[in-house]
Amino acid sequence: MASEPAERGENTRAVHLPTPPPLAQQPLAVPVYRSAAFAFGSSAEYAALLNGSAAGYSYSRIDNPTADSFAASVAALEAARRPGPAAAQPFASGMAVISAVFWTFTEAGAHVVAPAAVYGGTYGFLRDVAGKFGVRTDFIDVTDLDQVRAALRPETRIVYAETLANPTTAVADLPALAEIAHRAGALLVVDSTLAPPPVCRPLEHGADLVLHSATKYLGGHSDATGGVVTGHPDLISRIRAVRIDTGGSLAPDEAFLLRRGLETLPLRVSRQCATALTFASALAGHPAVRRVDHPGLPGHPGHQVARRLFDAGPDGAQRFGAIVTVTPHGGRAGGYALADRLRVAQVATSLGGTHTKVSHVASTTHRQFDDAALAAAGIDPGAVRFSVGLEDAADLIADAAQALDALGGIREERD
Ligand SMILES: Cc1ncc(COP(=O)(O)O)c(C=O)c1O
Repeated sequence: MASEPAERGENTRAVHLPTPPPLAQQPLAVPVYRSAAFAFGSSAEYAALLNGSAAGYSYSRIDNPTADSFAASVAALEAARRPGPAAAQPFASGMAVISAVFWTFTEAGAHVVAPAAVYGGTYGFLRDVAGKFGVRTDFIDVTDLDQVRAALRPETRIVYAETLANPTTAVADLPALAEIAHRAGALLVVDSTLAPPPVCRPLEHGADLVLHSATKYLGGHSDATGGVVTGHPDLISRIRAVRIDTGGSLAPDEAFLLRRGLETLPLRVSRQCATALTFASALAGHPAVRRVDHPGLPGHPGHQVARRLFDAGPDGAQRFGAIVTVTPHGGRAGGYALADRLRVAQVATSLGGTHTKVSHVASTTHRQFDDAALAAAGIDPGAVRFSVGLEDAADLIADAAQALDALGGIREERD
């Protein structure tokens, strides 16, 4: 028989400290429910939660209130103007969500169509990990719709696209891809990490699932790692089941930061997009520059598609994302020299945060690509990706200009 509290030993009393009563007032910020486990009123309640006949929380790998709040918030932003229900699932990283989507909707013998210019981690996963389990992927140019149609097979389960490709900034024609995928009985899965909800909401353009590395714009401060996928609740509940079995669940502290980041997402992204367009336009004519890729530039091959699919902000300014890929003359050496001479923009991993970051693409985000794969993806060995942050445009332009001005000697080596 349990002893009365006053008679319990000091360790028992220390472990069983009082817990706060349920609050009558809702906190404005979503609390961090940093608990791996939850307690139940009875074994029957515990069993009902685990077998899915009752809703609630049992174990944070399965579900956590802070992580759920983050996912529900993303669903609200992604599906804002889409008729019909939408749900979302939170993950520990972008790669955790990407792998879970493929584990859910493919099997040995299944076929996937993906962009040649896909994020390097996704490329590595599809080629080396899913490939080992018998999932075959054709990496093609998904902006060429004839190539997409030609690549389809009866066993194609997923047509995969990035709304705005990393780092080429190619723009996917989502309605056209959705029609092609659906006619073949496949899902259109879209990684929209580089075009978050204020820029584009792929579910409104026919995508079945939209996913993000939340580490980037959604969190926005380079201080939390996470991923999220949104779509019809039937698809999302199948992905949740795989998340529970594979364990890539989002931690509550990370979920708190990512959820907080969402509150300033439109403000941050609108400003980053405006600065990126100014920055790209200013650098496009520099003599040390071989090419500048940004969908806001009228000569960009995806400019018209972006105008059709991407949203304008409340001020009427169209948002084209905040990635600018600058390719100087001089191949790899030129790319390294440009990145290393910058003083405001920082050589740093990741993208989408408040700081402007640069990376030499071929040796970092796309290091999994050999020369042939780089060429197929349209990535120049010298390309440097700028993720434009919240600094003042004039400072970023002056910084890039001084770095490019210093490249004169390298330009002579040509490419
Ligand atoms: C477009 C894109 N998708 C997915 C990922 C993977 O996300 P994470 O690093 O959060 O796993 C990245 C990371 O850079 C990315 O750029």
